[in-house]
Amino acid sequence: SEDPGAAAERRAAAPCPQPLPPAVPPPDGCGTPSPGAAGLGDPYFGDAGNGGYDVSHYDVALAYAGVRTGAVDATVTVTATATQDLSAFDLDFRGPEITAVTVDGREARHRRAGRELVVTPAGPIRAGRAFRVAVRYAGRPVPVGNKTFGSYGWVPSKDGAVVASEPDGASTWLPVNDHPRDKATYAFHITVPKDLRVVANGRPGPVRTGGATATYEWAEDAPMASYLATVAIGRFQVRRTEVDGVPVITAVDPAFRSAAKGLESTTVKVMRWAAPLFGPYPFATAGGIVDDPKLGYALETQERPVYGGFAPDEGFVVHEMAHQWFGDSVGLRDWSDIWLNEGFATYAEWLWRERTGRDSAEKIFKRYYALPASSPIFSPPPGAPGAAKMFGFSVYVRGAMTLQALRDRVGDKAFFTILRTWTAEHRHSTATTPQFIALAERVSGQRLTALFQAWLRSETKPRSW
Ligand code: ARG
Ligand code: ZN
Repeated sequence: SEDPGAAAERRAAAPCPQPLPPAVPPPDGCGTPSPGAAGLGDPYFGDAGNGGYDVSHYDVALAYAGVRTGAVDATVTVTATATQDLSAFDLDFRGPEITAVTVDGREARHRRAGRELVVTPAGPIRAGRAFRVAVRYAGRPVPVGNKTFGSYGWVPSKDGAVVASEPDGASTWLPVNDHPRDKATYAFHITVPKDLRVVANGRPGPVRTGGATATYEWAEDAPMASYLATVAIGRFQVRRTEVDGVPVITAVDPAFRSAAKGLESTTVKVMRWAAPLFGPYPFATAGGIVDDPKLGYALETQERPVYGGFAPDEGFVVHEMAHQWFGDSVGLRDWSDIWLNEGFATYAEWLWRERTGRDSAEKIFKRYYALPASSPIFSPPPGAPGAAKMFGFSVYVRGAMTLQALRDRVGDKAFFTILRTWTAEHRHSTATTPQFIALAERVSGQRLTALFQAWLRSETKPRSW
């Protein structure tokens, strides 16, 4: 038997007994892992994004074989945190054949169902836990295309490929949580035949050459929506300059070589012009990419917009650069708020024309306002355009007119304070229309619900402003 001294010592060191927890049942989900939802419930793109986790980082290691096959061999490692106890989860993926999936280094079961990749890890992932999913795949990625959005996603070019994914095309080339609400940082390691170059979002790293290939490193260190991720592979004329310590890197396909200098100088001019109006430029680098596929649009890919098959004029550059503040840094929570991107970027074009004094946003507004109520610039209302018209005229033009109507009501001082407060308060995050209205009311001290209702949601042409 134990010596009484030792027993007393053991007793003194023991913790006080805790009262038993009250006998209430645990809330739903506790202890019973369930599959994450196949979508985030976006009003326009219900299966875009996935429930049950939050991605913090994508590491993209991708080897591109060349135009002959157009094939890639890629491993994408997704670092995420579970937001519920997960028995399984989805990624969005419409890319080529998957050869392996691991979760935290252990092989995981996986199955493809349309645009979804369903991953079942060996054991459940507890809420709050960080985990890493690695997906390896190989083959030839293809873009998606339809009448409404044109061709988007991974788009083959004459000498390589270029990525422009708005709204839901990122899954053509990456396994991804494809919704703007889930921003993450990205690291790109892209290997290409030695005669090609790679340009992507963010900051370039060293180029390593070995045998017949070269590997390019790019890093996007600010949170980024998946549709804003880009990689451009091909032959490019690359230029570098700087604006107040921010590197400006532009890359232009040889077919557009005469546009290279202009793209750089306009991008620089616009950055200097925009900072006093919208607040400090929100990212570590800037630039632009002109590649040959005739997309018929440009995309504000973060830090380095893509111009698809044309040499952009000044207005186009102003528009895509304005998106760096409005759309990229201040992102969307829901696609139905798309006017927060396109109305603002279009209004920036009007402000650019105002800067010379020869034209003004107010005059531009009045010219549009003179059009008949049946004009496509007025409908559908920009605050509820529906998915099919999310990039239609009314989102751009009536969206911009909404801002002119606001400016007219609250005056220049309050208006530009609203713009700068918006970019400061939601920097590198996401926001909604009700948040914008609340901010405008707070800064101006006025009731603005009726104005925004008339301009954003009314089915008819607003009667006055
Ligand atoms: N956000 C782009 C712009 O700056 C438009 C992208 C349209 N996307 C598409 N797939 N067509 O206006
Ligand atoms: Zn735009």
